[in-house]
Amino acid sequence: MHNVAVVLAGGTGQRMGLEIPKQLVKIAGKPIMQHTLQVFQSAPQIDEIIVAMTPGFVAEAEAIVAAAGCTKVTNVIEGGATRTETTMRAIETVSATTPEANVLFHDAVRPFIDHRVIEDCVKALERYEAVDVAIPSADTIIKVDDYGGTVIKDVPRRDLLRRGQTPQCFRLPTIREAYRLALADPDFTGGKVSATDDCSVVLRYLPDVAIVVVPGSEQNMKVTHPVDVFLADKLFQLSSQAPPPPPGTEKDYTSSLSGKTVVIFGGSQGIGADIATLARSFGAQVYSFSRSETGTHVESSPDIEAALAKAHGETGRVDYVVNTAGVLHTGRLDEIDDAIVEESLRINYLGPLKIARAAIGYLRESKGQLLLYTSSSYTRGRAGYSLYSSAKAATVNLTQALADEWAEDGVRVNCINPERTATPMRTRAFGEEPADTLLSSHDVALTSIDVLISELTGHTVDIRRHDPTAVSR
Ligand code: CTP
Repeated sequence: MHNVAVVLAGGTGQRMGLEIPKQLVKIAGKPIMQHTLQVFQSAPQIDEIIVAMTPGFVAEAEAIVAAAGCTKVTNVIEGGATRTETTMRAIETVSATTPEANVLFHDAVRPFIDHRVIEDCVKALERYEAVDVAIPSADTIIKVDDYGGTVIKDVPRRDLLRRGQTPQCFRLPTIREAYRLALADPDFTGGKVSATDDCSVVLRYLPDVAIVVVPGSEQNMKVTHPVDVFLADKLFQLSSQAPPPPPGTEKDYTSSLSGKTVVIFGGSQGIGADIATLARSFGAQVYSFSRSETGTHVESSPDIEAALAKAHGETGRVDYVVNTAGVLHTGRLDEIDDAIVEESLRINYLGPLKIARAAIGYLRESKGQLLLYTSSSYTRGRAGYSLYSSAKAATVNLTQALADEWAEDGVRVNCINPERTATPMRTRAFGEEPADTLLSSHDVALTSIDVLISELTGHTVDIRRHDPTAVSR
């Protein structure tokens, strides 16, 4: 069966109170509807996508479709004055070319829809003519009076209540028939029947059709009010946090790394030195640069450029650029020397920026990867760590931004977030600590290599000591 996703983006977002429709608001660097479109574009079950856009904004929607590389989109149509009208227009559009199809109506402003839900819906349509997506309600739902809603009339059993989400999915002839009957009903056309969703139209006009419920997900929220933009942004941030990729075998490492050129900044000790040793043992050409070994300063563009040019000059390529250089100064900001503040910022923040700027030309050629390091302190600033943790938070943001900017060049960018790791930098800051409370830099280095040879991009990869994949190696 031909599966058509209809992305409903015809609304104006009154409750959001902005100048532009809320589906155009950017979250995690992209308009909300672009995230939504990309999920359907990459869902193997979906054959075609139709976008219904707010009148006056069709050009914007077309630009987003192009930017997202949504090759499955066949039509961007104008939506109607109400959601129901928008749906009906989409039904007409699909019917014009495909009389027999499954249609999945999805709110453009639910960007967290996932492939599992889409797959479950399409599967359910093999047996049923209509499918809704819903989740249990954590809140008690009360029914109020019809005269201002100030008095409770009923408290329905919560275990029988669900919160409806989208997609709502139908066999095309079923939903077409439901709307045909609805349009013949003066109560419906006169606006007396509330129809904020399509399942209610089927329920009312085709009562014999079973509408099966597929479990949705808590994340599949609808961006409705201003606070939802903030929540959605945080959800995207969380979803860019990835567990380490599965550990490779010796053979994976050797086949991925042999003949490749790895450039490491800060490679004289700690995690950087361990990456250098491991990558060499897997057949890579490793160039390690640091203040002590080669007099290379990551805050100096000429030093970085010279380092990269040397590696490229001698091997003809630069596949991976890793920056483990960092300094950790703790203390109250008002009590730290100006010189230390400057040094810390230059090494921990300007360093990654300058390395990124110098490396992109080489990485574009090799379709390679830039790997940066953050610290678990980035998620929340706390006393004594203002300098270090704010630069590390910036590194995470930089990773996400560059992953977006460089995606079209096929260059990946990731960031490792190791829990407390036994490194010389740490010992200098905190003295000797019990070894069993720290990650070994060898484990962090091996996971770093797993990330280098993976397809991940834009991710912050957490490595924790209690992570069995980290300690078992
Ligand atoms: N929608 C639509 N056509 C309409 C109205 C709504 O396609 N005439 C779409 C919206 O773009 C949104 C989805 O239906 O993706 C869910 O609707 P809702 O959250 O109510 O969106 P808006 O109508 O835009 O918001 P508001 O009610 O605050 O104006």
